[in-house]
Amino acid sequence: MFFSFFIVLLAGISVFSVDCLTCLHCTDIQSPRHCKYVRECQPGEVCNIHRTTNPYGDVEFDVSCVHPWACSNRSQGLQACDECCSTDLCNAAGCGLTGYPSKRGPVCFNCPAQITDGTCHRIDVCGLNEMCLINEQSEFGDTVYTSQCVGLAHCQPQTMGSSQIIGRSIYDDTRSLAETVCHKCCHDDLCNANCDVNYCASNPCGHGTCVNSRTNYTCVCDPSYTGSNCTDLNYCFLNPCEHGICVNGKTNYTCACDPSHIGRHCAEFRIQDCMDQRNLTHVSGVYSVLPAGMFQNIEVYCDMETDGGGWAVFQRRVNGSVDFYQNFLNYENGFGDVHGEFWLGLKYIHAMTANVTSELRIELETADGHLLYEVFPDFRLSAAPEYTLHIEKGHGTAGDSQGLSYSSGSRFSTYDDEHSGRCANLSHAGGWFNNCGWANLNGRYVTPGSKSFYYQAMCYGDYNNGEALKGTTMMFRRV
Ligand SMILES: *[C@@H]1O[C@H](CO)[C@@H](O)[C@H](O)[C@H]1NC(C)=O
Ligand SMILES: *[C@@H]1O[C@H](CO)[C@@H](O)[C@H](O)[C@H]1NC(C)=O
Ligand SMILES: *[C@@H]1O[C@H](CO)[C@@H](O)[C@H](O)[C@H]1NC(C)=O
Ligand SMILES: *[C@@H]1O[C@H](CO)[C@@H](O)[C@H](O)[C@H]1NC(C)=O
Ligand SMILES: *[C@@H]1O[C@H](CO)[C@@H](O)[C@H](O)[C@H]1NC(C)=O
Ligand SMILES: *[C@@H]1O[C@H](CO)[C@@H](O)[C@H](O)[C@H]1NC(C)=O
Ligand SMILES: *[C@@H]1O[C@H](CO)[C@@H](O)[C@H](O)[C@H]1NC(C)=O
Ligand SMILES: *[C@@H]1O[C@H](CO)[C@@H](O)[C@H](O)[C@H]1NC(C)=O
Repeated sequence: MFFSFFIVLLAGISVFSVDCLTCLHCTDIQSPRHCKYVRECQPGEVCNIHRTTNPYGDVEFDVSCVHPWACSNRSQGLQACDECCSTDLCNAAGCGLTGYPSKRGPVCFNCPAQITDGTCHRIDVCGLNEMCLINEQSEFGDTVYTSQCVGLAHCQPQTMGSSQIIGRSIYDDTRSLAETVCHKCCHDDLCNANCDVNYCASNPCGHGTCVNSRTNYTCVCDPSYTGSNCTDLNYCFLNPCEHGICVNGKTNYTCACDPSHIGRHCAEFRIQDCMDQRNLTHVSGVYSVLPAGMFQNIEVYCDMETDGGGWAVFQRRVNGSVDFYQNFLNYENGFGDVHGEFWLGLKYIHAMTANVTSELRIELETADGHLLYEVFPDFRLSAAPEYTLHIEKGHGTAGDSQGLSYSSGSRFSTYDDEHSGRCANLSHAGGWFNNCGWANLNGRYVTPGSKSFYYQAMCYGDYNNGEALKGTTMMFRRV
């Protein structure tokens, strides 16, 4: 799409920039090379020199643009002559007259304070140590363009400190230092016609097409080259990144993968959670996943059996072998053994639930070996350091009248990072406390069925008034 548009644009440019000749334009002069006026011809016209002899016997010349068909010698009278030529200013010579001397400066436009850029029709032949100048400046609030011959020194770039000030004149320190103000010196005939500089003149684009802009050029590179001058090899040429963006480097490319893919060529599916892993296997176990927004894989226990599977287990207690009275850093990064008792880590839970919709499931094993569960829709944690819990009211066999949803909206507290009184200390746990709450699944592991550590034991309010549990599991999955 972009390319076809661009080709049209280029074609447009070439149609409207047909090179027209600029010819001397004077009537009844004795010497064409002293003619001080020029005209830009119509497309197809050529420069003409026409010699006549007036009734007093004086030889006079008309120089101008003509259609080529008018170039055949009009040959009225003995002294008449017509000649045509087709280079700029070529009608300074002809009909037996020599043109400009070979040793001279450039022919420059010579107009003071033109209101419109590019409309000057007066010229001057500069001296040997002169160049053409066109200068844009502000006068009475108008922008005016002055073109003239100037001495070479006037065109030297001036430096101030280490940075070059483009086009700054030593004679004029009032001018803006900005590069965008036109102050163009050049040394070819008629080169100071207007402020539009041909930045492409030096063919700066190594393997591409140069396009002029007001203040610089831009290069449109051939497909296998890149860089501002189209001089760097474009290793991305063949679109090597299957599901990602190719980034060109000095010696090769790298692929910046979409969130859903990984690998050198972004060709492999990125397993972000147990739901992705479920596409590959239905066997529960520990798998390596790369959570959204993270750069290193983590080990997660995936429950592939419960209610269809795809659950990422983030908390498990079976026998009290791991102490859950841990500080904030450990709750953030995880602790325990993913094959046994563990806490996965708040930062991973956050990453895997942040931009998706998930449900939370808790499973409680009672002292007598019964299994209870409760599922809470719309589970997610806010970002660090709050890790605020969000869930909806639960449904299941464990109940939720004195359950976990009471804690929704609370941030995470540990004994060294309390945010609800001293609840973490009092509950002997890390958790989402709200003065302090009903569910204490990270509480102290005590003899299952006991009520002796009422406030501190691993328990769930809806079950037997907080009787100590034998085992717990907390897990979530994308829905
Ligand atoms: C026109 O006249 C010049 C001499 O002044 C001559 O050289 C030239 O061939 C003539 N051109 C034509 C088309 O007759
Ligand atoms: C003009 O563009 C080229 C290529 O993008 C860049 O290298 C150069 O610095 C630019 N020059 C100026 C004066 O901005
Ligand atoms: C591009 O070429 C210009 C002119 O040759 C040069 O000044 C500029 O530093 C080059 N830019 C790069 C990025 O190579
Ligand atoms: C760039 O890397 C790819 C993949 O590693 C390799 O196949 C290719 O040869 C490399 N290209 C160059 C020019 O080094
Ligand atoms: C797994 O399957 C689900 C649904 O079919 C799909 O949305 C997801 O992208 C798949 N994930 C992978 C890693 O294949
Ligand atoms: C507790 O359970 C874990 C995981 O099943 C096991 O490795 C460990 O040996 C058990 N510890 C005790 C004291 O039973
Ligand atoms: C969630 O999406 C936001 C916005 O797209 C992004 O900035 C953030 O990194 C994403 N978070 C995760 C954990 O993917
Ligand atoms: C918890 O509180 C008790 C009683 O105030 C105190 O002795 C203990 O040091 C606290 N524990 C921690 C880890 O802060």
